[in-house]
Amino acid sequence: MATLRFSAAARCAAKHRLLAPVLLLLLITSCAPPSTLPTDLRSTSSAPSRQPGGTPPATALTDPAVPTLRSLAQAKGRYVGAAVDPRPLLGEPLYAETLAREFNMVTPENALKFGRTQPSRDRYTFRDADAIVAFARANGMAVRGHTLVWHVVLPRWLTGGAFTREELLAILRAHIATVAGRYRGQIAAWDVVNEALGNDGSWRDTIWYKTIGPEYVDLAFRWAREADPQARLFYNDYDCEGLGSKSDAVYELVKGLRQRGVPIDGVGLHMHVRIDASPEPAEVAANLQRLAALGLEVHITEMDVRIDGAVTEGKLARQASIYKDMLRVCLAAENCRAFVLWGFTDRHSWIPSYFRGWGAALPFDEAYRPKPAYRALMEALSTP
Ligand code: G3I
Repeated sequence: MATLRFSAAARCAAKHRLLAPVLLLLLITSCAPPSTLPTDLRSTSSAPSRQPGGTPPATALTDPAVPTLRSLAQAKGRYVGAAVDPRPLLGEPLYAETLAREFNMVTPENALKFGRTQPSRDRYTFRDADAIVAFARANGMAVRGHTLVWHVVLPRWLTGGAFTREELLAILRAHIATVAGRYRGQIAAWDVVNEALGNDGSWRDTIWYKTIGPEYVDLAFRWAREADPQARLFYNDYDCEGLGSKSDAVYELVKGLRQRGVPIDGVGLHMHVRIDASPEPAEVAANLQRLAALGLEVHITEMDVRIDGAVTEGKLARQASIYKDMLRVCLAAENCRAFVLWGFTDRHSWIPSYFRGWGAALPFDEAYRPKPAYRALMEALSTP
């Protein structure tokens, strides 16, 4: 069925005699009728406590004889994903090819953030997000929406607006309705709220918290459910992958949401780690288990493993073993449905500009060659 849909769209695109694969893929999307959404994006349920799920889409544009991260994850019924940026996606054929071959899920790294989608009040812009969603549709990939409520990348009209509580509530509601509503039925999972807690697990003193109070989280989830009843709704945060005070605080937060009947389906664990500091696999497993007991799915949402200084074989081996350990823990947990990296090639990664002297955090090098980390991920996925 997926093949048939792809063929019809490809014939349409062929009329336009495009040769560049990326343009071809985008044209396929524009030719495809709305009913050609990947099956999983149409079948995800809104029921918060049903079996964790969503079925990864059928592999597109790959040779089934050659295993990839995508084909192996697909065989296990899991998502393996990467954060993406529209510039290389549209400008570097190897970026687009590698992404479509190796992953069945994408997260727009920046394109769906508040300041990007509503830079001026009530004036929305979706060009970058549309390009990523179109690419995902053309390649049978699921999309993680990131993120509806965060305290970073907020436009100046919002942060400098001195809005009252009622005004800010109206702004947030309209934003969620517009952004989640635009992609209704096309987003497998939304990071509804990102990083609401500080490093010590207390409420982060953001514009949302200060002006609205903690109930902004409950309301955001309810409004997201209204806007896109099919999307699975996630709370997403960092430094809470293993056990500890932040992880406990996230657990208590989502437990409270569940108890109050707030429509949350899962927790996103970032997993931005270092080769010399990463969570204990047994602690991550325990964390996944206690979240499962609340009826919640988990997605590893932003994994990378940064290396300091010169990249050596030893450091690459250490990096590979961290990737492998974390993927194994995820695969061993029935509720851990997606394993998403924050990028996939060292050519495009947020790490070097944020952490001076650190880099090489992803499983493909700057020339898109697989690193030991890639082989380690393949091994974890190949284990029955
Ligand atoms: O697009 C502009 C470009 O036009 C300009 O020339 C350039 C100059 O600095 O900046 C570019 O924008 C940057 C953007 O990334 C795209 O590269 C922003 O300055 C920069 O602040 C932005 O950083 C992003 C950061 O979130 C803040 O939004 C990172 O790419 C992105 O990886 C990072 O992602 C976050 C997750 O959303 C949440 N969890 C943590 C994670 C890492 O910080």
